Order: sequence, then structure tokens, then C-alpha cells
Amino acid sequence: DIYNIKQIRADTKVYGVVGKPVGHSKGPILHGAAFRSVGYDAVYLPLLVDDFASFLHTYSSPDFAGFSVGMPHKEAALACSDEVDPIAKYIGAINTLIKRPSDGKLIGYNTDYTAAISAIEITLQGSSGKVSAGSPLADKVFVVLGAGGAGKALAYGAKEKGARVVIANRTYERAKELANLVGGQAIALADLENFHPEEGMILANTTSVGMHPNIHDTLLSKQTLKSYALVFDAIYNPVVTRLLREAEELGVTIVSGMEMFIRQAMGQFELFTGLPETTLIFSACKNININ
Ligand code: ATR
Repeated sequence: DIYNIKQIRADTKVYGVVGKPVGHSKGPILHGAAFRSVGYDAVYLPLLVDDFASFLHTYSSPDFAGFSVGMPHKEAALACSDEVDPIAKYIGAINTLIKRPSDGKLIGYNTDYTAAISAIEITLQGSSGKVSAGSPLADKVFVVLGAGGAGKALAYGAKEKGARVVIANRTYERAKELANLVGGQAIALADLENFHPEEGMILANTTSVGMHPNIHDTLLSKQTLKSYALVFDAIYNPVVTRLLREAEELGVTIVSGMEMFIRQAMGQFELFTGLPETTLIFSACKNININ
């Protein structure tokens, strides 16, 4: 029983994921399990929404304590926020909206980019065996594939950690715009095959290439992946994309979008509940069948 109906009372907090489509979202299972595991009196619903602003207008009841915001509402939700976390504002998208209990104001956050960056950092630290004071991304060449919302978040996050950011995108103009915004270098997608200024670079795919059902697609030849110490893919369905599989076959460290997905949900759980207990949500996740 996903929603544990018996527990719903007048003061039960209501959360949900707002998206279109939303039927495939793992949020209700994940957050529902996490709430139950700590005894937090709340439910989490899938909310199929066409227009985010009119949805908020219609359901302004205080019963809604917060939302996860999915595609295509990440920009609209930012516009509807009364206050926005400064980094989310800079990125131009939020994935979490919390109704502040004291005054009912809507506060927007973005837990996506911190999730991806911390997943990459922790994996790098683990594979080197060294725990350094600074970020393991500092001074590394960090190649971002794609220049959409996710690309922007990753580029910003890597730059903040002191990485040398390179943006490669099918539409070169978009790569250039993003590179100018974060203070990085833009290159054409076609030039990425011959781009190896140094060993030990990091690659982050933020495009949808390789996503289910097009699981055989990839933007880079396997050979090219040799220049990288770590390859990250924001896609979580499949958990291991062709890009990641080929990197792994070469002995390159990989980080799946599933790591990012779990960590962004952990960040939301903390914002929703104010509880720092995050390992529980990990164990809740193990039971989720993504396909
Ligand atoms: P999101 O906000 O999820 O990042 P988006 O803004 O639609 O989504 O961006 C999608 C990214 O994937 C873009 O960088 C897009 O490249 P363009 O800017 O050239 O459109 C990239 N992308 C999508 N399909 C692609 C494909 N078949 N080949 C190469 N890049 C692709």
C-alpha cells in the first residue's frame, strides 16, 4: 500500500511530484517509503499538471506542504516562487518547492545540481583513496555534454568546485552562451573526438541521448572515452547507458544518473522534513524497479 491510506488525518502533510507526464515517476514510491521509515506523517502524490501557475492558484490550500517539480515545469515553478535559493535562481530552474509554515510563502530550491556534483566528488574520492581538503574537481578539465537545463546546472556546479569547464553541444551557439555564462570554454560536438588536452578528464552527459527506448545511442566513440578518469551520465533509465557501459569496459570509473536521482531525492527529503536522516531513503530505493 503505497500511500498507507489508514494513516491519513486532517493534519497529515501532503506533498507531490508535479509533472507532465508523471505516471512513470518513482517519487511516490521513494518519498512514501522514506516518510514511513521515519514515521513522518505525510503522503506524496503523483500530480499530472498542464499549467503550473493555474494549478497553484487552484490548490492554494495550506494542506500542500511542498512539491517535487518535474519536467516541463522547472522554469514555471521558479517564476511562481516567492523566494528562490540564489543558486537555483542563477541556474534558472528549480526542482523543489516548499511552503514555509510560518507565512505560507513558496520557497524554491534546486537539489539536482548538488546531487550530481556530490555523486561525482564522492566517487572520485573513493577511487583515489585520498581524502583531500579541497574538491577532487579542482583544476580538472570537466566536459559537459549538452547545454540545456541539466547542462547548465552541472556546468555551474563544476565551476563552483574550481573545475575547468568545457561545454560541447550539438548546437554550438548554445554551448557558447553557456560557456560565457559560467566562464568556460565551448567546443563543437564534432571536435570532442579529438579533444584530449590532458589525461584524467571528467565527462558529464546531460543530453537525452542513450535514454530508454534509444538505449543503443551514444554521442562519443568508445575510443574517445580513454581520455577520461570518470564518466557521469544524468540518465537513470537505463541505469547503465551505452556511454557508461563502454567507459566501464575501458576501466573508466562511472557514475550513473541513478546516483544523482537518489541524491536529489535525499536533498528533497531533508527540505520536506527537516530531518537529516538520509541513509533510510537509500535503503527505500533498493526496492524500486526502474524499468
Ligand atoms: P534539459 O533541460 O533536460 O537539459 P533540454 O533543454 O531540452 O533538456 O536540452 C537537451 C540537451 O540535449 C541539449 O543540449 C540538446 O542539444 P541542442 O542544444 O543542440 O538541442 C541535447 N540533445 C538532445 N538530443 C540530441 C541529439 N540527438 N544529439 C545531440 N544532442 C542532443
